[in-house]
Amino acid sequence: MPAITVDANTFALFGALGDLALRKLFPALYQLDRAGLLNPATRLVALSRDTGEADAHLARIEQSLRRYVPPHELDEGVLDRFRNRLDYLAMDFRRAEDYASLAQSVSPDMPLIAYFATPASVYGDICRNLAAVGLAEQTRVVLEKPIGHDLISSQVVNDAVAEHFPESRTYRIDHYLGKETVQNLIALRFANSLFETQWNQHHISHVEITVAETVGIEGRWGYFDQAGQLRDMIQNHLLQLLCLIAMDPPADLTADSIRDEKVKVLKALAPITPEKLSQRVVRGQYAAGSVGGKPVPGYLEEENSNAESSTETFVALRADICNWRWSGVPFYLRTGKRMAQKVSQIVIHFKEPPFYIFAPEQRSLISNRLIIRLQPDEGISLQVMTKQQGLDKGMHLRSGPLNLNFSETYKSSRIPDAYERLLLEVMQGNQNLFVRKDEIEYAWRWCDQLIDGWTRLGDAPKTYPAGSWGPVASIAMITRDGRSWYGDL
Ligand code: BG6
Repeated sequence: MPAITVDANTFALFGALGDLALRKLFPALYQLDRAGLLNPATRLVALSRDTGEADAHLARIEQSLRRYVPPHELDEGVLDRFRNRLDYLAMDFRRAEDYASLAQSVSPDMPLIAYFATPASVYGDICRNLAAVGLAEQTRVVLEKPIGHDLISSQVVNDAVAEHFPESRTYRIDHYLGKETVQNLIALRFANSLFETQWNQHHISHVEITVAETVGIEGRWGYFDQAGQLRDMIQNHLLQLLCLIAMDPPADLTADSIRDEKVKVLKALAPITPEKLSQRVVRGQYAAGSVGGKPVPGYLEEENSNAESSTETFVALRADICNWRWSGVPFYLRTGKRMAQKVSQIVIHFKEPPFYIFAPEQRSLISNRLIIRLQPDEGISLQVMTKQQGLDKGMHLRSGPLNLNFSETYKSSRIPDAYERLLLEVMQGNQNLFVRKDEIEYAWRWCDQLIDGWTRLGDAPKTYPAGSWGPVASIAMITRDGRSWYGDL
């Protein structure tokens, strides 16, 4: 039996036949059902503009469950129960008349969760139409990213939603916040006094955040080419990670206490002026190469591509946080598609000891690092200095890990997907893992000035071969500061 009970709700998924819904959201709902975390009275309504036989659409959803849920987690009994909760409704999200049948299928006694897995351009229409059929009061709205493509357009979307829904019932998704290891950052930092006393410019020299992917743009050229890696990954996932590493301890774990601290970090990010742009930011675009031993095309040769595109698929940058805690501690952020390895990790580099008593040639070895591996092989490793063993070794040092590998240490527990956690939190009415309007806006403000700078300077992305660690300029950027990207990456 699950340790928590979750109240019944009607869960309406707009965009139910889209890639995100089929690949991530339905499997996550199924997993919640399997774990006993969907209330027996909870109903699911799949909404899409595709007309035709409802049964055929429901069968498609079931097929996607069979495809995306690992075989050993597919349970026919749970699948039956899941099917019995699920209805399909075809509707045009922009047409007010189409909402009458949705209103009929929603119980007035339980919350309605309206999840928008659609382009943000229709969020406003959906909100207005939900309100027009009298559903606004009982509804929590869940907004997928990207919300806008810059500050102004994100404000337009947020304002349209806010006309009908208060912030307390608006849940903006950044799925990185639902990852177990990302939530662990809060536990690591604020449940261990060991780290918090060291967590500042007196003890830390610099921080690296890398989110590297081996995939390309996976048939999403149309979307991705308008966005690029800065908007797709830095504006949300990487800046959220930066905030969790850099924020001050919140007064408690309530949503607003945590978000207030994150906003302070975003406000303190130093702008990168056009004069500094070429030194501090590198844009890249992958050319043909090979990933995992297989040849892959370049970005400009992908299906439906435009061979003239100058959209970036890689960004490396140096961010500086202007406050007492972090003054003089650069945060190096790096993310790209078609890189050598899929890895998301944060490396905290501690400063060298203040006085040095070992052989001078060993000096370069000496600094502690805390490596937080978000995916894959989730875990935490603290690199510490020890003496090499053996009579002939004298006081020769080496750096070795104190390791905590989550799957080895906590063998029994399965690591839930980020969306399972996030959907559960919405059903429980908890906003801690969702992004407040002002966070999105400060993040856009900072990214907008980078994009403006690129436009003003006519900065073209530097190519890198697929399957590499990005353009050489990204290595030069960190080397200029006397540092290197961590490890064997
Ligand atoms: C999404 C981006 O938000 O995150 C994708 O739109 C990216 O481009 C994905 O591939 C990465 O997520 P994850 O969980 O696989 O690291």
